[in-house]
Amino acid sequence: MIRACVIGWPIEHSRSPLIHGHWLKVYGIAGSYAKVAVRPEETAAFLRSMREQGFAGCNVTLPHKETAFAVADDKSPAACAMGAANTLWFAGGRLMADNTDSIAFIEHLRASVPRLSLRNNLVALLGAGGAARALVYAFLEAGAAEVRVFNRTRERAEAVARHFGAAVKVHDWDRRVDGSREVTLLVNATSLGMKGAGKLDMDVSRLDERCVVADIVYVPLVTPLLATAAARGLVTVDGLGMFLHQAVPGFEKWFGVRPEVTDELRALVVADIEGR
Ligand code: ATR
Repeated sequence: MIRACVIGWPIEHSRSPLIHGHWLKVYGIAGSYAKVAVRPEETAAFLRSMREQGFAGCNVTLPHKETAFAVADDKSPAACAMGAANTLWFAGGRLMADNTDSIAFIEHLRASVPRLSLRNNLVALLGAGGAARALVYAFLEAGAAEVRVFNRTRERAEAVARHFGAAVKVHDWDRRVDGSREVTLLVNATSLGMKGAGKLDMDVSRLDERCVVADIVYVPLVTPLLATAAARGLVTVDGLGMFLHQAVPGFEKWFGVRPEVTDELRALVVADIEGR
C-alpha cells in the first residue's frame, strides 16, 4: 500500500486528507493519506527518515515549508523562486520538492474565468507573505506586465520586489484603492477576511468594471471582499479552487494517477467547511 501524508504544526485543521482520501476512493487506489503533527525542531529529521517510515512523500504546510525546501535534494524552479516547498516525493532515492500553489492559482483562475489573460496586464496584490510570493511568481509566469504589491509593512513588500525584480512595484497599503483602479486582476493574499481574523477594508467601487477580484482566503468561502465585488457586478474567484488544485501534483507523484478537481470534490470540501 502506498502511503503519503501532510505534515504541519498544528495539523488538526488540515483538509488535505479529505481531498486525497476522496481521490483514493474515486480512482480505486489502495493507498493512505494521513495527518502527521511534526514539531518545527523535528521537521528536518522527519523528512530525512520519511522513506524509511514507509512514506512515498508528503505535503507540507505551515510552518515547515522553508525547512522542507532546505532539506530537499532537488527543487523545482517554482520552489526555488519561493524558497519554500509544499509537495515532496522521491525520485531515484532523491528527495524532490515543488511548490504547487502558483500553478494551482493560475489553473483555478483559467478554469473560472477563461476570458482573462494576464499577459501584458496589471495586477494588484494585497499582502507580501508566503502566499503572496507564490502569487507573484504565478503572475510573472503568466506574463503580467506589472504586479502592484500593497502591504501594511512596506519593507516586506520591498523584499518581494527585490526578490522578483522590476515588474513588482511596491505601494503603500493606504494607496490600495486608488492604486488598483485600472488593474485587470485584484487578489487578496493577506489573512484578512478569514474567519476569526480582522476585516479587510477594501473599497471596490473604483475598480474597472472588467476587473476580476480573487481571494486566497476560503473560510468563509465567500469572503466580505468577494461579496462586495459580486454585489458591484464584478467577476469573482474564490480561494478554495487554489487549495484543491495545489493537491493535484502530489497525488500524481505518489499514487501515479493525475486526479481531477471535480464539482463533487468541491462540494465535499465545502460541506466540511460549512460544518454540514
Ligand atoms: P502567509 O504565509 O499565509 O501569506 P503571512 O506571511 O503571515 O502568511 O502573511 C500574512 C499577510 O497578511 C501579510 O501580508 C500581512 O501583512 P504584514 O506583512 O504587514 O504583516 C497581512 N496582514 C495580516 N494582518 C493584517 C492587518 N491587520 N492589516 C493589513 N495586513 C495584514
